Amino acid sequence: MTIIEIIETKKQGQPLSEEMIQFFVNGYTQGIIPDYQISALLMAIYFQGMNDEESTFLALAMRDSGDVLDLSDIEGIKVDKHSTGGVGDKISFILGPMVAHFGLKLAKMSGRGLGHTGGTIDKLESIHGIQTELTEEVFKNQVRQHHLAIIGQSGEIAPADKKLYALRDVTATVNSMPLIASSIMSKKLASGADIIVLDVKVGDGAFMKTVEEARSLAKLMVEIGKLAHKKVIAVLTNMDEPLGYFIGNAHEIHEAVQTLLGKGPEDLNHIASTLVAHLLVQSDLYQDFDIAYDASRLVLQKGLAFPYLNRMIEDQHGDSEMLLTMPLYFSSHQVQLKSKQSGFIDRIEALKVGKAAMLLGAGRQTKEAIIDHYVGIELHKKVGDYVDKDDVLLTIYHQEKGLKEATKLLENAFVYTDHEKEVQSILDTIQ
Ligand code: URA
Repeated sequence: MTIIEIIETKKQGQPLSEEMIQFFVNGYTQGIIPDYQISALLMAIYFQGMNDEESTFLALAMRDSGDVLDLSDIEGIKVDKHSTGGVGDKISFILGPMVAHFGLKLAKMSGRGLGHTGGTIDKLESIHGIQTELTEEVFKNQVRQHHLAIIGQSGEIAPADKKLYALRDVTATVNSMPLIASSIMSKKLASGADIIVLDVKVGDGAFMKTVEEARSLAKLMVEIGKLAHKKVIAVLTNMDEPLGYFIGNAHEIHEAVQTLLGKGPEDLNHIASTLVAHLLVQSDLYQDFDIAYDASRLVLQKGLAFPYLNRMIEDQHGDSEMLLTMPLYFSSHQVQLKSKQSGFIDRIEALKVGKAAMLLGAGRQTKEAIIDHYVGIELHKKVGDYVDKDDVLLTIYHQEKGLKEATKLLENAFVYTDHEKEVQSILDTIQ
Protein backbone atom coordinates (compact mmCIF):
# COMPACT_ATOMS: atom_id res chain seq x y z
CA MET A 1 0.00 0.00 0.00
CA THR A 2 1.26 3.50 -0.80
CA ILE A 3 -0.04 6.92 0.16
CA ILE A 4 -0.46 7.69 -3.56
CA GLU A 5 -2.89 4.75 -3.90
CA ILE A 6 -4.83 6.03 -0.90
CA ILE A 7 -5.09 9.55 -2.33
CA GLU A 8 -6.12 8.08 -5.71
CA THR A 9 -8.83 5.92 -4.07
CA LYS A 10 -10.39 8.91 -2.32
CA LYS A 11 -9.99 11.14 -5.38
CA GLN A 12 -12.11 8.60 -7.30
CA GLY A 13 -14.77 8.78 -4.55
CA GLN A 14 -14.12 5.25 -3.26
CA PRO A 15 -14.24 4.45 0.47
CA LEU A 16 -10.95 3.95 2.30
CA SER A 17 -10.42 0.68 4.16
CA GLU A 18 -9.53 0.51 7.86
CA GLU A 19 -5.95 -0.45 6.89
CA MET A 20 -5.63 2.53 4.55
CA ILE A 21 -6.83 4.89 7.25
CA GLN A 22 -4.49 3.44 9.86
CA PHE A 23 -1.64 3.61 7.32
CA PHE A 24 -1.98 7.31 6.62
CA VAL A 25 -2.75 8.33 10.23
CA ASN A 26 0.24 6.44 11.61
CA GLY A 27 2.52 7.44 8.75
CA TYR A 28 1.68 11.10 9.17
CA THR A 29 1.95 11.10 12.98
CA GLN A 30 5.37 9.44 12.79
CA GLY A 31 6.57 11.98 10.21
CA ILE A 32 7.00 9.34 7.48
CA ILE A 33 4.36 10.79 5.14
CA PRO A 34 4.92 14.48 4.30
CA ASP A 35 2.44 17.35 4.68
CA TYR A 36 1.94 17.77 0.92
CA GLN A 37 0.57 14.26 0.43
CA ILE A 38 -1.71 14.45 3.47
CA SER A 39 -2.87 17.88 2.27
CA ALA A 40 -3.90 16.32 -1.04
CA LEU A 41 -5.70 13.52 0.79
CA LEU A 42 -7.53 15.95 3.09
CA MET A 43 -8.72 17.92 0.08
CA ALA A 44 -9.93 14.71 -1.58
CA ILE A 45 -11.81 13.83 1.64
CA TYR A 46 -13.20 17.37 1.74
CA PHE A 47 -14.73 16.97 -1.74
CA GLN A 48 -15.60 13.27 -1.76
CA GLY A 49 -16.64 12.89 1.88
CA MET A 50 -16.39 9.74 3.98
CA ASN A 51 -19.08 7.27 5.03
CA ASP A 52 -19.87 6.56 8.70
CA GLU A 53 -17.58 3.56 8.79
CA GLU A 54 -14.60 5.46 7.39
CA SER A 55 -15.24 8.31 9.83
CA THR A 56 -15.23 5.79 12.68
CA PHE A 57 -11.98 4.17 11.48
CA LEU A 58 -10.44 7.65 11.34
CA ALA A 59 -11.67 8.55 14.85
CA LEU A 60 -10.32 5.27 16.24
CA ALA A 61 -6.96 5.55 14.45
CA MET A 62 -6.51 9.08 15.82
CA ARG A 63 -7.62 7.98 19.30
CA ASP A 64 -5.07 5.14 19.26
CA SER A 65 -2.25 7.50 18.27
CA GLY A 66 -1.98 8.63 21.90
CA ASP A 67 -2.95 7.87 25.48
CA VAL A 68 -6.35 6.29 26.14
CA LEU A 69 -7.70 6.54 29.65
CA ASP A 70 -8.61 3.16 31.08
CA LEU A 71 -11.35 3.52 33.69
CA SER A 72 -12.26 -0.18 33.79
CA ASP A 73 -10.78 -0.53 37.28
CA ILE A 74 -13.31 1.97 38.64
CA GLU A 75 -16.56 0.28 39.60
CA GLY A 76 -19.86 1.63 38.36
CA ILE A 77 -21.00 3.52 35.30
CA LYS A 78 -18.57 6.11 34.00
CA VAL A 79 -20.04 9.00 32.04
CA ASP A 80 -18.57 11.96 30.19
CA LYS A 81 -19.87 15.16 28.72
CA HIS A 82 -18.46 17.24 25.92
CA SER A 83 -19.48 20.64 24.62
CA THR A 84 -18.50 21.84 21.17
CA GLY A 85 -17.68 25.19 22.78
CA GLY A 86 -19.96 27.92 23.99
CA VAL A 87 -19.75 31.32 25.65
CA GLY A 88 -20.58 31.32 29.37
CA ASP A 89 -20.63 27.53 29.28
CA LYS A 90 -20.33 26.34 32.87
CA ILE A 91 -22.52 23.25 32.45
CA SER A 92 -19.75 20.77 33.41
CA PHE A 93 -19.56 22.25 36.92
CA ILE A 94 -23.31 21.72 37.31
CA LEU A 95 -23.67 18.39 35.52
CA GLY A 96 -20.68 16.74 37.25
CA PRO A 97 -22.01 17.12 40.81
CA MET A 98 -25.52 16.18 39.65
CA VAL A 99 -24.48 12.87 38.10
CA ALA A 100 -22.26 12.21 41.14
CA HIS A 101 -25.33 12.64 43.35
CA PHE A 102 -27.13 9.97 41.31
CA GLY A 103 -24.20 7.56 41.75
CA LEU A 104 -22.71 7.87 38.27
CA LYS A 105 -19.01 8.63 37.97
CA LEU A 106 -17.45 11.49 36.04
CA ALA A 107 -13.69 11.36 35.50
CA LYS A 108 -13.22 14.39 33.32
CA MET A 109 -10.12 15.60 31.59
CA SER A 110 -10.56 19.11 30.23
CA GLY A 111 -8.59 21.68 28.36
CA ARG A 112 -7.65 25.31 28.73
CA GLY A 113 -9.37 27.95 26.67
CA LEU A 114 -8.14 29.62 23.53
CA GLY A 115 -10.03 32.40 21.76
CA HIS A 116 -13.58 33.38 22.63
CA THR A 117 -14.64 30.30 24.60
CA GLY A 118 -13.26 29.76 28.08
CA GLY A 119 -11.59 26.59 29.26
CA THR A 120 -12.94 24.44 32.07
CA ILE A 121 -9.53 24.25 33.75
CA ASP A 122 -9.05 28.03 33.62
CA LYS A 123 -12.39 28.46 35.33
CA LEU A 124 -11.49 25.96 38.06
CA GLU A 125 -8.20 27.76 38.61
CA SER A 126 -10.05 30.86 39.81
CA ILE A 127 -10.33 28.89 43.08
CA HIS A 128 -7.18 29.45 45.14
CA GLY A 129 -5.01 26.39 45.69
CA ILE A 130 -6.90 24.09 43.29
CA GLN A 131 -4.79 21.32 41.80
CA THR A 132 -5.73 20.34 38.30
CA GLU A 133 -2.75 18.11 37.67
CA LEU A 134 -3.17 14.82 39.50
CA THR A 135 -1.48 11.51 38.97
CA GLU A 136 -3.72 8.93 37.32
CA GLU A 137 -3.94 6.98 40.58
CA VAL A 138 -4.98 9.99 42.69
CA PHE A 139 -7.45 11.04 39.99
CA LYS A 140 -9.01 7.58 39.83
CA ASN A 141 -9.16 7.22 43.62
CA GLN A 142 -11.01 10.50 43.90
CA VAL A 143 -13.55 9.27 41.34
CA ARG A 144 -13.87 5.92 43.15
CA GLN A 145 -14.55 7.61 46.48
CA HIS A 146 -16.44 10.76 45.60
CA HIS A 147 -17.63 10.09 42.05
CA LEU A 148 -16.18 13.26 40.56
CA ALA A 149 -12.87 14.73 39.41
CA ILE A 150 -12.06 17.35 36.80
CA ILE A 151 -8.41 17.71 35.83
CA GLY A 152 -6.28 19.04 32.99
CA GLN A 153 -5.26 16.77 30.17
CA SER A 154 -2.25 14.72 31.07
CA GLY A 155 -0.25 12.65 28.65
CA GLU A 156 -0.97 13.07 25.00
CA ILE A 157 -4.54 12.62 23.84
CA ALA A 158 -4.91 11.95 20.10
CA PRO A 159 -1.66 13.55 18.85
CA ALA A 160 -2.61 12.53 15.30
CA ASP A 161 -5.66 14.76 15.53
CA LYS A 162 -3.54 17.64 16.77
CA LYS A 163 -1.20 17.33 13.78
CA LEU A 164 -3.99 16.80 11.25
CA TYR A 165 -6.04 19.67 12.68
CA ALA A 166 -3.08 22.05 12.31
CA LEU A 167 -2.71 20.97 8.68
CA ARG A 168 -6.46 21.33 8.03
CA ASP A 169 -6.27 24.83 9.42
CA VAL A 170 -3.79 25.91 6.73
CA THR A 171 -5.28 23.93 3.82
CA ALA A 172 -8.90 25.16 4.07
CA THR A 173 -10.14 21.68 5.03
CA VAL A 174 -11.43 22.34 8.55
CA ASN A 175 -15.11 22.52 7.70
CA SER A 176 -15.60 18.98 6.48
CA MET A 177 -18.27 17.13 8.46
CA PRO A 178 -16.47 13.72 8.63
CA LEU A 179 -13.18 15.40 9.57
CA ILE A 180 -14.80 17.49 12.32
CA ALA A 181 -16.83 14.58 13.70
CA SER A 182 -13.89 12.16 13.76
CA SER A 183 -11.64 14.83 15.28
CA ILE A 184 -14.02 15.51 18.17
CA MET A 185 -14.83 11.83 18.68
CA SER A 186 -11.16 10.74 18.65
CA LYS A 187 -10.66 12.77 21.81
CA LYS A 188 -13.94 11.72 23.42
CA LEU A 189 -13.33 8.03 22.76
CA ALA A 190 -10.00 8.41 24.59
CA SER A 191 -11.82 9.48 27.77
CA GLY A 192 -12.62 5.94 28.88
CA ALA A 193 -16.31 6.63 29.63
CA ASP A 194 -19.16 4.19 28.93
CA ILE A 195 -21.74 6.84 28.12
CA ILE A 196 -21.05 10.22 26.54
CA VAL A 197 -23.44 13.13 26.19
CA LEU A 198 -22.50 15.71 23.57
CA ASP A 199 -23.71 19.28 23.87
CA VAL A 200 -23.62 20.54 20.30
CA LYS A 201 -23.90 24.32 20.27
CA VAL A 202 -25.76 26.01 17.46
CA GLY A 203 -25.74 29.66 16.45
CA ASP A 204 -23.69 32.74 16.17
CA GLY A 205 -21.22 31.95 18.94
CA ALA A 206 -20.79 28.33 17.88
CA PHE A 207 -18.88 26.30 15.32
CA MET A 208 -22.16 25.16 13.73
CA LYS A 209 -24.20 28.15 12.65
CA THR A 210 -27.45 26.40 11.65
CA VAL A 211 -29.60 23.65 13.18
CA GLU A 212 -29.26 21.59 9.96
CA GLU A 213 -25.46 21.67 10.08
CA ALA A 214 -25.42 20.87 13.78
CA ARG A 215 -27.87 18.00 13.27
CA SER A 216 -25.67 16.41 10.58
CA LEU A 217 -22.61 16.71 12.79
CA ALA A 218 -24.47 15.32 15.79
CA LYS A 219 -25.83 12.33 13.80
CA LEU A 220 -22.37 11.47 12.56
CA MET A 221 -20.80 11.73 16.01
CA VAL A 222 -23.53 9.55 17.54
CA GLU A 223 -23.00 7.00 14.75
CA ILE A 224 -19.22 6.99 15.30
CA GLY A 225 -19.86 6.44 19.01
CA LYS A 226 -22.15 3.50 18.33
CA LEU A 227 -19.77 1.87 15.88
CA ALA A 228 -17.07 2.27 18.55
CA HIS A 229 -19.36 0.49 21.07
CA LYS A 230 -20.12 3.53 23.23
CA LYS A 231 -23.49 4.99 24.09
CA VAL A 232 -23.55 8.53 22.73
CA ILE A 233 -26.39 11.07 22.83
CA ALA A 234 -26.16 14.51 21.27
CA VAL A 235 -28.27 17.45 22.37
CA LEU A 236 -28.38 20.54 20.16
CA THR A 237 -28.43 23.70 22.29
CA ASN A 238 -28.91 27.32 21.37
CA MET A 239 -25.94 29.68 21.30
CA ASP A 240 -27.79 32.80 20.16
CA GLU A 241 -26.88 34.28 23.50
CA PRO A 242 -24.33 33.36 26.17
CA LEU A 243 -25.35 30.70 28.65
CA GLY A 244 -26.64 32.13 31.91
CA TYR A 245 -25.80 35.66 33.03
CA PHE A 246 -22.08 35.42 33.86
CA ILE A 247 -19.08 35.19 31.55
CA GLY A 248 -15.51 34.94 32.88
CA ASN A 249 -13.68 32.43 35.02
CA ALA A 250 -14.57 33.22 38.64
CA HIS A 251 -17.88 34.61 37.38
CA GLU A 252 -18.85 31.29 35.83
CA ILE A 253 -17.87 29.29 38.89
CA HIS A 254 -20.07 31.61 40.93
CA GLU A 255 -23.05 31.07 38.65
CA ALA A 256 -22.53 27.30 38.58
CA VAL A 257 -22.59 27.28 42.39
CA GLN A 258 -25.73 29.41 42.47
CA THR A 259 -27.37 26.96 40.05
CA LEU A 260 -26.38 24.01 42.24
CA LEU A 261 -27.96 25.85 45.17
CA GLY A 262 -31.28 26.19 43.36
CA LYS A 263 -30.77 29.82 42.39
CA GLY A 264 -29.73 29.43 38.76
CA PRO A 265 -31.22 30.86 35.58
CA GLU A 266 -33.67 28.84 33.53
CA ASP A 267 -31.35 28.09 30.59
CA LEU A 268 -28.73 26.52 32.86
CA ASN A 269 -31.33 24.59 34.87
CA HIS A 270 -32.96 23.27 31.72
CA ILE A 271 -29.83 22.32 29.77
CA ALA A 272 -28.05 20.73 32.74
CA SER A 273 -31.17 18.75 33.73
CA THR A 274 -31.74 17.59 30.14
CA LEU A 275 -28.16 16.35 29.73
CA VAL A 276 -28.24 14.64 33.13
CA ALA A 277 -31.61 13.02 32.39
CA HIS A 278 -30.21 11.51 29.18
CA LEU A 279 -27.28 10.06 31.12
CA LEU A 280 -29.65 8.64 33.75
CA VAL A 281 -31.79 6.94 31.11
CA GLN A 282 -28.83 5.62 29.12
CA SER A 283 -27.35 4.18 32.30
CA ASP A 284 -30.70 2.45 33.10
CA LEU A 285 -31.08 4.26 36.43
CA TYR A 286 -34.35 5.64 35.06
CA GLN A 287 -36.59 4.19 32.36
CA ASP A 288 -38.52 7.33 31.58
CA PHE A 289 -36.85 10.53 30.38
CA ASP A 290 -39.48 12.90 31.82
CA ILE A 291 -39.22 11.34 35.27
CA ALA A 292 -35.40 11.52 35.09
CA TYR A 293 -35.67 15.18 34.04
CA ASP A 294 -38.00 16.04 36.95
CA ALA A 295 -35.67 14.24 39.37
CA SER A 296 -32.73 16.26 38.00
CA ARG A 297 -34.61 19.54 38.38
CA LEU A 298 -35.44 18.61 41.96
CA VAL A 299 -31.79 17.93 42.73
CA LEU A 300 -30.98 21.48 41.63
CA GLN A 301 -33.93 23.01 43.41
CA LYS A 302 -33.02 21.32 46.69
CA GLY A 303 -29.28 21.96 46.40
CA LEU A 304 -28.54 18.23 46.70
CA ALA A 305 -25.61 18.18 44.28
CA PHE A 306 -23.66 21.13 45.70
CA PRO A 307 -21.84 19.02 48.34
CA TYR A 308 -20.29 16.97 45.51
CA LEU A 309 -18.71 20.08 43.98
CA ASN A 310 -17.57 21.22 47.41
CA ARG A 311 -16.00 17.81 48.03
CA MET A 312 -14.27 17.79 44.67
CA ILE A 313 -12.73 21.22 45.33
CA GLU A 314 -11.52 20.07 48.75
CA ASP A 315 -10.15 16.80 47.34
CA GLN A 316 -8.18 18.87 44.83
CA HIS A 317 -6.88 21.21 47.58
CA GLY A 318 -8.93 24.24 46.51
CA ASP A 319 -10.23 26.84 48.95
CA SER A 320 -13.85 25.67 49.04
CA GLU A 321 -14.99 28.73 50.99
CA MET A 322 -14.52 30.72 47.80
CA LEU A 323 -17.41 28.81 46.24
CA LEU A 324 -19.83 30.79 48.39
CA THR A 325 -17.95 34.08 48.45
CA MET A 326 -16.69 34.35 44.87
CA PRO A 327 -18.20 37.81 44.09
CA LEU A 328 -15.82 39.27 46.71
CA TYR A 329 -12.98 38.33 44.38
CA PHE A 330 -14.49 39.81 41.21
CA SER A 331 -12.43 42.68 39.86
CA SER A 332 -13.48 45.81 41.76
CA HIS A 333 -13.37 48.12 38.70
CA GLN A 334 -16.82 48.08 37.18
CA VAL A 335 -18.63 49.89 34.42
CA GLN A 336 -22.20 49.48 33.30
CA LEU A 337 -23.43 49.47 29.75
CA LYS A 338 -26.84 51.01 29.10
CA SER A 339 -29.27 50.36 26.29
CA LYS A 340 -29.34 52.98 23.57
CA GLN A 341 -32.88 52.07 22.57
CA SER A 342 -36.03 50.35 23.80
CA GLY A 343 -37.40 47.04 22.55
CA PHE A 344 -37.29 43.29 23.06
CA ILE A 345 -33.89 41.65 22.94
CA ASP A 346 -33.79 39.36 19.93
CA ARG A 347 -30.18 38.13 20.21
CA ILE A 348 -27.06 38.76 22.25
CA GLU A 349 -24.28 37.81 19.87
CA ALA A 350 -22.30 35.30 21.87
CA LEU A 351 -19.21 35.57 19.69
CA LYS A 352 -18.89 39.29 20.45
CA VAL A 353 -19.47 38.74 24.18
CA GLY A 354 -16.88 35.94 24.22
CA LYS A 355 -14.34 38.10 22.37
CA ALA A 356 -15.03 41.00 24.74
CA ALA A 357 -14.35 38.76 27.75
CA MET A 358 -11.14 37.60 26.09
CA LEU A 359 -10.00 41.20 25.47
CA LEU A 360 -10.62 42.03 29.14
CA GLY A 361 -8.19 39.23 29.96
CA ALA A 362 -10.60 36.41 30.84
CA GLY A 363 -9.43 34.39 27.84
CA ARG A 364 -6.31 33.86 25.78
CA GLN A 365 -5.59 35.51 22.46
CA THR A 366 -2.49 33.37 22.11
CA LYS A 367 -1.59 30.06 23.71
CA GLU A 368 1.02 31.72 25.93
CA ALA A 369 -1.18 34.56 27.23
CA ILE A 370 -1.70 34.82 30.99
CA ILE A 371 -5.33 35.19 31.95
CA ASP A 372 -7.02 37.21 34.69
CA HIS A 373 -9.46 34.94 36.51
CA TYR A 374 -11.45 37.76 38.10
CA VAL A 375 -12.43 39.99 35.18
CA GLY A 376 -15.69 39.21 33.43
CA ILE A 377 -19.13 40.28 32.32
CA GLU A 378 -22.48 40.06 34.08
CA LEU A 379 -25.52 40.35 31.86
CA HIS A 380 -28.58 41.93 33.40
CA LYS A 381 -30.83 41.17 30.43
CA LYS A 382 -31.35 38.08 28.34
CA VAL A 383 -33.03 37.31 25.02
CA GLY A 384 -36.78 37.87 25.25
CA ASP A 385 -36.52 40.61 27.89
CA TYR A 386 -37.99 44.03 27.20
CA VAL A 387 -35.68 46.97 27.85
CA ASP A 388 -36.26 50.72 27.98
CA LYS A 389 -33.67 53.17 26.71
CA ASP A 390 -30.99 53.67 29.41
CA ASP A 391 -31.76 50.38 31.18
CA VAL A 392 -28.54 48.69 32.31
CA LEU A 393 -27.74 45.80 29.95
CA LEU A 394 -24.60 44.52 31.64
CA THR A 395 -21.75 45.17 34.05
CA ILE A 396 -18.13 44.84 32.99
CA TYR A 397 -15.67 43.81 35.72
CA HIS A 398 -12.27 44.93 34.46
CA GLN A 399 -8.67 45.98 35.11
CA GLU A 400 -8.55 48.65 32.37
CA LYS A 401 -6.98 46.15 29.92
CA GLY A 402 -9.00 45.89 26.71
CA LEU A 403 -11.88 47.89 28.16
CA LYS A 404 -12.39 50.23 25.22
CA GLU A 405 -12.45 47.54 22.57
CA ALA A 406 -14.52 45.19 24.72
CA THR A 407 -17.13 47.89 25.37
CA LYS A 408 -17.46 48.53 21.66
CA LEU A 409 -18.02 44.86 20.93
CA LEU A 410 -20.58 44.58 23.72
CA GLU A 411 -22.48 47.63 22.49
CA ASN A 412 -22.86 45.93 19.14
CA ALA A 413 -23.74 42.53 20.58
CA PHE A 414 -27.36 43.38 21.39
CA VAL A 415 -29.91 42.95 18.59
CA TYR A 416 -33.44 44.26 19.18
CA THR A 417 -36.87 43.44 17.84
CA ASP A 418 -40.29 45.03 18.34
CA HIS A 419 -42.07 41.80 19.19
CA GLU A 420 -41.91 39.24 21.98
CA LYS A 421 -39.64 36.29 21.43
CA GLU A 422 -39.88 32.81 22.82
CA VAL A 423 -36.56 31.39 23.96
CA GLN A 424 -35.79 27.79 23.18
CA SER A 425 -32.54 26.55 24.63
CA ILE A 426 -32.77 22.91 23.44
CA LEU A 427 -33.23 22.56 19.70
CA ASP A 428 -33.04 18.81 19.07
CA THR A 429 -31.80 15.52 20.46
CA ILE A 430 -30.04 12.82 18.45
CA GLN A 431 -29.55 9.33 19.84
N1 URA B 1 -13.25 20.81 17.27
C1 URA B 1 -12.41 19.75 17.13
O1 URA B 1 -11.97 19.20 18.12
N2 URA B 1 -12.12 19.32 15.89
C2 URA B 1 -12.60 19.90 14.77
O2 URA B 1 -12.29 19.45 13.70
C3 URA B 1 -13.44 21.00 14.93
C4 URA B 1 -13.76 21.43 16.19
